[in-house]
Amino acid sequence: MSFLHLTLTLNPVPPELNTRLQSARSLPGVRFFTLAEIPDDQACRQRLYPLVREGVLDDPGHGSGFESYADFCEKIYPRCYRDHAATQFLAASGEEWIGLCSLILNGDHTARAGLTVVKQPGRGQGIATELKRRSILACLNHGIRRVTTRVYETNHPMLTINRRLGFTEETG
Ligand SMILES: CC(C)(COP(=O)(O)OP(=O)(O)OC[C@H]1O[C@@H](n2cnc3c(N)ncnc32)[C@H](O)[C@@H]1OP(=O)(O)O)[C@@H](O)C(=O)NCCC(=O)NCCS
Repeated sequence: MSFLHLTLTLNPVPPELNTRLQSARSLPGVRFFTLAEIPDDQACRQRLYPLVREGVLDDPGHGSGFESYADFCEKIYPRCYRDHAATQFLAASGEEWIGLCSLILNGDHTARAGLTVVKQPGRGQGIATELKRRSILACLNHGIRRVTTRVYETNHPMLTINRRLGFTEETG
């Protein structure tokens, strides 16, 4: 078992992707926002932690275990999330954060798609697809030419989402 490396080329944007990018899914009761809209405080970290933890532990490519809340706050949250707040796409239902799609802009017109997760009760409704769609639109707005990601080969939902949005497998 291994990870597949996927790439989305955005120069030029494939015509079929253009169509997909313009079609937002209607998801009643789900609110979309970015981490940049949320104050950098304890409440924010407490909402983000269970989401990231569930995503990492549910990813079939992950080993076992996840950092404690304290380690998350000290080591992961600043570097992986807060420093890239404008490209952390979130979904909430009421007060609960139920989805995340993490993107890091590399500063050389490329970007790396990180963790995508939807909490178990919310899965299968298109939330991850909508988060990912928003992240790709942000890439276009930032002049990103290429987005890379890696997905474990048995992670069929994530592979389906990425391939539908135009990611293709890197070869060689
Ligand atoms: C991957 C994940 C984010 C998807 O979230 P989601 O909101 O349920 O995804 P969506 O509803 O937008 O789309 C899932 C798609 O995968 C498809 N799918 C689900 N199971 C599948 C399978 N076994 N084989 C093929 N496609 C599958 C669904 O049919 C759906 O497509 P549809 O829109 O045509 O119905 C969610 O399952 C999750 O959090 N998994 C654990 C964390 C993880 O593995 N993250 C990825 C690592 S980066």
